[in-house]
Amino acid sequence: MIKKGNLYYPSEEFKKQAWVNDKAIYKKAAKNPVKFWEDLAKDLVWFKKWNKGFVHKPPYFEWFVNGKINITQNALDRHLDKRKDKPALIWEPEPIKEKARVFTYYELFKEVNKFANALKKLGVKKGDRIGIYLPMIPEVVIAMLGCARIGAVHVVVFSAFSSKALNVRLQDTKAKILITADGYYRRGKVIDLKKNADQGIKKTNVKKVVVVKRTGNKVKMRKGRDIWWKELINKESNQCEPRSMDSEDLLFVLYTSGSTGRPKGCVHVCGGYAVQAYWTAKWIFDLKEDDVFWCTSDPGWVTGHTYTIYSPLLNGVTTLMYEGVPDYPAPDRWAQIIEKHKVSIFYTAPTAIRMFEKYGTDFVRKHKLETLRLLGSVGEPIDEAAWQWYFKEVGKERCPIVDTWWQTETGGILITSLPGLGPFKPSFTGLPFPGVKVDFKDGNLVILPPFAPGLLRGVYKNPKRYLKTYWTQYGKKIYFTSDGAYQDKQGLIRVIGRVDDVIKVAGHRITTGELESAIALHKDITECAVVGKADEIKGEVPIAFVISRTKKSSEVIAKEVITQVRKEIGPIASPKQVYLVKDLPKTRSGKIMRRILRKLFTGEDLGDLSTLANPEIVEEIKNMIK
Ligand code: PRX
Repeated sequence: MIKKGNLYYPSEEFKKQAWVNDKAIYKKAAKNPVKFWEDLAKDLVWFKKWNKGFVHKPPYFEWFVNGKINITQNALDRHLDKRKDKPALIWEPEPIKEKARVFTYYELFKEVNKFANALKKLGVKKGDRIGIYLPMIPEVVIAMLGCARIGAVHVVVFSAFSSKALNVRLQDTKAKILITADGYYRRGKVIDLKKNADQGIKKTNVKKVVVVKRTGNKVKMRKGRDIWWKELINKESNQCEPRSMDSEDLLFVLYTSGSTGRPKGCVHVCGGYAVQAYWTAKWIFDLKEDDVFWCTSDPGWVTGHTYTIYSPLLNGVTTLMYEGVPDYPAPDRWAQIIEKHKVSIFYTAPTAIRMFEKYGTDFVRKHKLETLRLLGSVGEPIDEAAWQWYFKEVGKERCPIVDTWWQTETGGILITSLPGLGPFKPSFTGLPFPGVKVDFKDGNLVILPPFAPGLLRGVYKNPKRYLKTYWTQYGKKIYFTSDGAYQDKQGLIRVIGRVDDVIKVAGHRITTGELESAIALHKDITECAVVGKADEIKGEVPIAFVISRTKKSSEVIAKEVITQVRKEIGPIASPKQVYLVKDLPKTRSGKIMRRILRKLFTGEDLGDLSTLANPEIVEEIKNMIK
């Protein structure tokens, strides 16, 4: 890369070969964004072309109206002429001794069809919701595409979520089938996923549980309900016609945390999502025929949906998936995988970068990582130090870094510098993707019509929440992102962070409200407050303040609260610290002042405390924290 002041630009060599290397694209797209996206959409295979690009009925909108498409036809069938024997998916298991599995496009096509046929035999119809609670194994790809093949709606639940979290999602979507596994490897240990799945389907509509044998650990199979994956697909034909889907038919529902209470199901549809997934990846990751693309995100998150699975396959490149933890059995496991499979484009989260940074540089300098040509970052702001480490130690000062901003709601990336153009400015994400219009209202990032084809169409079965969360702050025509952001003189955007009670813990999205509800279920806790505290590696971590009705010691209470959170949500949400307090700072009307608790960690001025009902508690808590 070329450095000019505090900005970086791609080398001439990179620029020359990039899909996008002329700034004019922004102007052209801005002139008529709908036409721009329509032109892009023509590159995909449609059963029937749409008759209108964009229709807006605020707060609702549609893209590629009356078009008919199937995303799997575009991700699989379309490549069979040219790329039949090319690897579509490389899967690297966690145990070193196990061999990687490789699926060519044709093999993946056949597996997806078999599974799709099996689903049909189980009575699955278009529009039915299918729960997928699978770890990072090839079957998660097959299951998702299998659903999409026949028009079933996949609802993927992150495998490290608790059975309670699974339960909520299955109840909300009324899924009749769950796909899960006997277990998976995590730091060399077998995690029994089936046990969680059994718990999670209680009091749901799930009638059949399909179980992938991954680890071979002993699991209980309930007769008449549980079926082994292998046995299910064994005799199925490897041909299954892709179902013609309306552009606006549901492709998937993916749950994410939002302010207050239960997670919400973001609704994504077939046409727009496919177009955005295809083109954002092609241009932002500059995908070329020989690329091996590794997006490290678990398919349980939107980054995994779009950039581990759909985007690379839509583009006909090879995607890589790794089962385990990044630093197992040694810190250079990821570096080894990059070299072993000749990864050329690598996409991960700042948290992972900071974790590796902590290991020093020796382990990474052992590896030349010569195949890498482009790096990406996602999920949280990347601080300058992490950016520089990534740039020097991983990209060896050669690879452009695309810092991509987006959300579960947006379906695909909406803001980033394009790799063939730059400029790249550490801690700034870049410009809106061509055709995307944003604005900054009172420091809040908003998206203007026509938005983007992949933006969510609703909150599953909850139109009120859809309206309230996204379309009330600035009216029904402006999408509210809940992120604070600003632009520099050149128009590059810096996203500061959430303005609601969402915190990003190791890139994972959780709300303090959700945590508080989980903790409040503990029988001894009368009141609690959770705030995010800055963390060197994870970005942010949750800190809990609790009031107990018992005389249990603070150690015991802390342990129980953590167990409670793990049970209700999952280990990713575990509070870093739990403080047992006598009271919480409150206004005279009884409102808990979380803002003050937050400031206790940042060292900011606490402001006027005299309006509190109990100002003395602030001093007490302050001393505790010290
Ligand atoms: O706050 C922003 C942050 O992650 C939020 C979305 O989280 P989630 O739905 O889990 O999706 C994450 C992966 C797309 C955003 O509201 N965020 C995401 N990417 C960035 C970011 N913050 C700063 N810079 C980014 N590149």
